[in-house]
Amino acid sequence: MTSQKSIMPHIVAISGSPTLRSRTRSLVTEIQRRIVQETGAGAGLVDIAELVPSLMVRTREQASPSLEDALASVERADLLVVASPVYKGSYTGLFKHFMDLVDYKSLAGVPVALLATGGSDRHALVIDHQLRPLFGFFNAQTLPTGVFLSDASFVDGRIEDPALQRRLSVLVRESADAVRLRVASGGLKAA
Ligand SMILES: Cc1cc2nc3c(=O)[nH]c(=O)nc-3n(C[C@H](O)[C@H](O)[C@H](O)COP(=O)(O)O)c2cc1C
Repeated sequence: MTSQKSIMPHIVAISGSPTLRSRTRSLVTEIQRRIVQETGAGAGLVDIAELVPSLMVRTREQASPSLEDALASVERADLLVVASPVYKGSYTGLFKHFMDLVDYKSLAGVPVALLATGGSDRHALVIDHQLRPLFGFFNAQTLPTGVFLSDASFVDGRIEDPALQRRLSVLVRESADAVRLRVASGGLKAA
């Protein structure tokens, strides 16, 4: 008998900020919540801030159980929702180090929604110039709409700008459509 669990899509959010109580984390978890609400998928979170002590390794074989769990959850994901703050014009070094430990074959064809945060709009192209090529390396399927938010976009922790909200809604819709397509095509990793 096939269990219900084995056919449920799994959405993993990655917050690339090494800072606890980060804007990036609250953004990516809120977007993941909206996608889960639309799709009924299961959800997991990889928070780089929580993994910082365990990232002091050079190879996968050296990974602690918590780091290994985080890497394995990313490799099993049917959709990744990825957000990083901009550090020195790119994603954070610790996020890149985490991705360096992910099996390069595991993300082929996996849809990936891209978000980034930054101090100003100066580095808004981080999504297309840095994050998209990184997931291109993995042969992942980055979704068309990426969303960049500057610190000024967060008012009391909320995003009030209607134009940004519209763009986030497009990203949520594209993500939910990608999950539904994987369900319909029988392409779920756990299936
Ligand atoms: C070390 C460091 C480097 C940064 N470099 C940039 C940068 O190059 N461009 C930019 O727009 N913001 C830069 N910022 C600002 C952060 O991207 C921004 O404050 C972001 O919202 C922080 O997200 P968080 O709250 O999730 O950590 C930098 C911040 C730090 C701590």
